[in-house]
Amino acid sequence: MSAYRDEIKNAIRTVPDWPEPGVMFRDIMPLLQNRNAFRKLIDSFVHRYQNMQLDAIAAIDARGFILGAPLAYELGLSLVPVRKKGKLPFKTVTQSYDLEYGSATIELHTDAFKPGDRVLVMDDLIATGGTMLAACELVRKLQAEVVEVAAIIDLPDLKGGEKLRNAGFPVYAICEFD
Ligand code: PRP
Ligand code: ADE
Repeated sequence: MSAYRDEIKNAIRTVPDWPEPGVMFRDIMPLLQNRNAFRKLIDSFVHRYQNMQLDAIAAIDARGFILGAPLAYELGLSLVPVRKKGKLPFKTVTQSYDLEYGSATIELHTDAFKPGDRVLVMDDLIATGGTMLAACELVRKLQAEVVEVAAIIDLPDLKGGEKLRNAGFPVYAICEFD
């Protein structure tokens, strides 16, 4: 793995048995607190996406917001927060999904994209892939195009990346944890 990927991966903390027994929680807070690693993280996403003719970043509530906002700013793109149910005030489209622990519903405003917009869907981590897949479905419901889904971390044992690729969505993750 390249040096910047190592630095980013090494800045992520693992907390065993949180939020429930059996879950190895991959905690990105130390990565965000590490100014060098955080800069390299955002710069690496900028480098990957600067020539992909994107229109917008759909950033998933809540940790996806932290990544999507600086990336949208740096690339001059629209920032579209994908929110947990009940937070958006205007007309919404809604999608429910299962998580590694529990279930949830996310929403987008109906005017979040123009038909044909090229969208990057962004979150911190892919576990079962349920959250990303639900966000991709919302983007599609609004007739925009998912160009790629991006995360810092993929957990390949949970097969989320595979599920997304099988559904036709290209996946990019900076590092993996077994
Ligand atoms: C976490 C993580 C992803 C999702 C990944 O968010 O930030 O959004 O789980 O899991 P999946 O691939 O199995 O769908 P969480 O729902 O815990 O919410 P948070 O960002 O508000 O902490
Ligand atoms: N979201 C779902 N599974 C997770 C994990 N293992 N670590 C951090 N966030 C998660």
